[in-house]
Amino acid sequence: MKLDVWFSPLGLGPADVQGRTIFVIDVLRATTVMCAALHNGARALIPVASTEEALRLAQTIGSADVLLAGEKNCVRIPGFALGNSPLEMTEQIVKGKTIVVTTTNGTKALLATQGASAVYVVAAANLTLAGERAREALEQNRNLLILCAGREATFGLDDAYCAGRLAAAALDGDRPRKGLNDAALASLDLVRRYGDDWKRPLSRSAAGRELVRLGFRDDVLDAGRLDAYPVLPQFHERRVTVASQSQHQPAQSQPQPQPS
Ligand code: MLT
Repeated sequence: MKLDVWFSPLGLGPADVQGRTIFVIDVLRATTVMCAALHNGARALIPVASTEEALRLAQTIGSADVLLAGEKNCVRIPGFALGNSPLEMTEQIVKGKTIVVTTTNGTKALLATQGASAVYVVAAANLTLAGERAREALEQNRNLLILCAGREATFGLDDAYCAGRLAAAALDGDRPRKGLNDAALASLDLVRRYGDDWKRPLSRSAAGRELVRLGFRDDVLDAGRLDAYPVLPQFHERRVTVASQSQHQPAQSQPQPQPS
């Protein structure tokens, strides 16, 4: 068994990523936003590295069903339809839309996962579903990597606590003596410290304090709502969409033809 946590993508190379099952976390706010958008009916999100690339891609796709979203310094990019708030991703606005999104840390972390065998998007908003998928992956002897977006390539308390919650759910009460890196052990210690309380690690984190300062207190509260947007997004072929059901779950039954 191998379960690594990285507190930021800094230094992550192809060998760290290749063939692994990766769970990307940016609780404040990019991965929460992705859960909210897909839960409310968005068709897909396409994460890109910069404002310029977002504008180029939206123009290339050239459809009225494309929305631009994202932030710089936590604030909406001028000309973009949406910022980076989960509360903006209402059904009325996002249903049926493809959202091209760029953020400071979250989208960069996702884009750093090229070569992984599967990539999932995690926040408090979908922790139970993500935990189930992580546990299944461990049962299938996959090597797990929980990748925190962090803040400016360093540790972020909000993401690290979420990583601990996900690792705890994946381990499901097991306490293996081998196979966890030091960051995984530290993230589990954070869970022992904060327990079930999302509010404290989120509001104490630098990202949380900055968002409150900028008037986004409600976003910080929303991002701490456990299983608020119960959907499991998967990043595959440049797009984030709702993940298909796990192989362990029975396939959904097909509608039966009605007798005439
Ligand atoms: C990021 O990607 O750095 C964050 O999502 C920033 C934010 O909360 O706007």
